[in-house]
Amino acid sequence: MSEPSVTIREVMLRDGLQNIREVIPTEDKIELFRRIVASGIRDMEITSFVNPKAIPQFGDASQMAQAVLKMKPEGVEVSALIPNLKGAQIALASGMRKLGFVMSVSESHNISNVRRTTDESIEELKKIVDLQADYPDLVVKAGMATVFGCPFEGKIKPQVTLNFIRRFYQLGLRHMSMADTVGFGNPQEVKELTGICVKEFPDVTFSIHLHNTRGLGLANSLAAYESGIRIHDGAIGGLGGCPFAPGAKGNTSTEDLVFMFEEMGVHTGVNLAALMEASRYFKKVKKDVAFSSSILEVGVPVPKGAITKDGSEQKWNINT
Ligand code: COA
Ligand code: ZN
Repeated sequence: MSEPSVTIREVMLRDGLQNIREVIPTEDKIELFRRIVASGIRDMEITSFVNPKAIPQFGDASQMAQAVLKMKPEGVEVSALIPNLKGAQIALASGMRKLGFVMSVSESHNISNVRRTTDESIEELKKIVDLQADYPDLVVKAGMATVFGCPFEGKIKPQVTLNFIRRFYQLGLRHMSMADTVGFGNPQEVKELTGICVKEFPDVTFSIHLHNTRGLGLANSLAAYESGIRIHDGAIGGLGGCPFAPGAKGNTSTEDLVFMFEEMGVHTGVNLAALMEASRYFKKVKKDVAFSSSILEVGVPVPKGAITKDGSEQKWNINT
């Protein structure tokens, strides 16, 4: 099998779970991880090192990290979200080395989400980057929330995001993620901003994290792809959402993302049937979960057979 042309990063175990109040047992999360990896996903956010009082779902972040790292899934990038230095320290002590720092490019959402101004978050980020002196294999990704709009402040100008990117770049960061936390972005805006980023910072690996709040998740992903973004986040079943962003809805569904790219001939390395199995497994764990994924709902297209005028049905020859 050739190398995938696009990397689909599965964020269900972080973004998907943070919006589910009922605490899912750690063993079920680990089994879900195992099944998602078996489908061919090679990049996964596995938990969130946040204050468990803020999000009780992640009270098991350390156990989750230790269990997943013990499995040593070959060729799979595992990362976790951190909002502050404390989260980074706990994550490192649990063995994690790839950490996605989250802050919002909108002041209001940053205060709502992590109780800090953006300047305070950047000060925190500097301290996290300094940990590389003790952990040379630590990779910090700068995750920017509300890039295309904020539930409190509305649209955010591209210059605001670009200024944050420049600051992250100066700190030595070369992995960055742009998130449309509440679905404000449209394909035109996504294409423009990601296009500038890719051109202005050719040595930065950018990823895109889109919420399908207003149905533009896939279109926005495609726009980012056309600008050269090759890491796209998705959550199985279209789950997810930020509990500190009013009106937040799910991520673009991973099943739909995989379907779109594969249909276009863009190789993802993911076996869609196996991925859907993983989603169905989660439905058994949490029976009342509300999925939002077209592919999970209706499946991939399967022709029923051509209709002939005399009423007989001819079996479709799928080899032609
Ligand atoms: N992991 C575990 N515990 C943490 C922590 C972390 N990353 N950060 C802080 N804490 C604990 C502190 O030890 C302290 O505990 P105590 O009450 O037992 O003394 C308590 O949380 C408060 O610490 P403080 O530094 O004052 O943090 P805060 O109350 O200002 O909370 C956040 C800041 C960011 C840690 C918290 O708001 C949070 O975790 N938010 C979740 C954000 C999120 O996940 N959003 C969705 C993803 S985008
Ligand atoms: Zn998200």
